[in-house]
Amino acid sequence: MTANVYDSFTLPSGGVLKNRLVKAAMEENLANAQQLPDQALFNLYDAWAKGGVGLIITGNVMIDHLAMTGPGGVALEKDSNLEPFKKLAQIGKQNGTHIWMQINHPGRQVFKKMGGKVLSPSDIALNMGKHSNLFTQPKAMNEEEIKDVIERFTVTAKRAQEAGFNGVEIHAAHGYLLAQFLSPLTNKREDQWGGSLENRARLLLEVVKSVRANCDREFAVAVKLNSADFQRGGFDVDDALNVVKMLEPFGVDVVELSGGSYEAPAMQGRTADQRTLAREAYFLEFAAKIAEQSSIPIMTTGGIKRLPIAQQVIDSGVALVGLASALAFNPELPNHWQHVPGVVGTIPQVAWKDKTLSGLANMALVKRQLRLLGAGKGVKVDASPVYSLILDQLRSAKLTKRYRKQYQNEVT
Ligand SMILES: Cc1cc2nc3c(=O)[nH]c(=O)nc-3n(C[C@H](O)[C@H](O)[C@H](O)COP(=O)(O)O)c2cc1C
Repeated sequence: MTANVYDSFTLPSGGVLKNRLVKAAMEENLANAQQLPDQALFNLYDAWAKGGVGLIITGNVMIDHLAMTGPGGVALEKDSNLEPFKKLAQIGKQNGTHIWMQINHPGRQVFKKMGGKVLSPSDIALNMGKHSNLFTQPKAMNEEEIKDVIERFTVTAKRAQEAGFNGVEIHAAHGYLLAQFLSPLTNKREDQWGGSLENRARLLLEVVKSVRANCDREFAVAVKLNSADFQRGGFDVDDALNVVKMLEPFGVDVVELSGGSYEAPAMQGRTADQRTLAREAYFLEFAAKIAEQSSIPIMTTGGIKRLPIAQQVIDSGVALVGLASALAFNPELPNHWQHVPGVVGTIPQVAWKDKTLSGLANMALVKRQLRLLGAGKGVKVDASPVYSLILDQLRSAKLTKRYRKQYQNEVT
């Protein structure tokens, strides 16, 4: 018999999660001008901690304030004020919940309007069709920049521990920097950081090793990995399995499997290589296959909004169930399911002809709920995608301006 979604789960590093439902990372764009957590984030995380998940993974926190995935993002560096992070950790740990900080570097996925450092293993720009000009041509990283990234991931993880977080999740999925190193489509290097899968995985492994070596043994270290890029010639499910195997000796607590990138948003259920994903729990087939062969507990996120599907994930041998959108629309879903198992969560599925705009509208609908919760208000389940997208674009423009003004001497 397999476990129940509401059974506790003991992590390899020793921590015990009260159940197997996890709030997956969602970038909130709700930081203050100093890129620190503030009241809006405190309100939001209070709602999630009280809503009944076993573990909260924060929205991605940047390891370098000059390399941001978006405006209004949080950054934690060696000289950042730790007090707001301490408060966030304390709020996230209410109700017996654990909280991990997701740590990330965007690599080439930096909007041109934001500016700052646009680094990648090779100088290959994003191909977003007619929307490609939203991004800049990246610079191929030199050895010193690679070492700097390892150091920054380590510093951010150490400071997350100091602030009271129970762990970190290293973001190596969704086309961000570590995923760019993993993918043969974006990594054309001929040195020790490119070529074979061993070489392409080297940066991720070095980051994991360094974080593990510099944090306490009880501090959880997780990795978010693509089960595939879902692009022709990209990182595929065999690569993912091999990388999980490579991670096994390094004391990783969980590998969260997702998929895709800005170019192929599989995490929203859409691929760019004709492969079809399941209608719910998009990556379950891949996650179950990898879980069968991995000694590291596996988690999968994407398309989960019903309790029977969450239970099916566990029944398939996957340890943890990640929920993102559904918890933005209803942070209380884990509590509600215990009383009314038939409650169906909300995952927006805008399907306009322009796939890029559809993806942005889906994100905008979710982010709007995060803002409402951050303001201490109720969510708006039937919000208009067009209006939400316009609001999001206007807000992003304002926050981008704020960022550029704040860092005008550093951002070019
Ligand atoms: C608004 C929004 C922001 C997101 N930000 C992040 C992020 O910071 N880090 C990350 O790994 N995934 C991020 N994701 C992806 C989610 O973690 C998740 O993989 C994806 O939404 C699929 O899960 P769902 O169907 O439960 O929403 C984000 C998703 C949304 C909707």
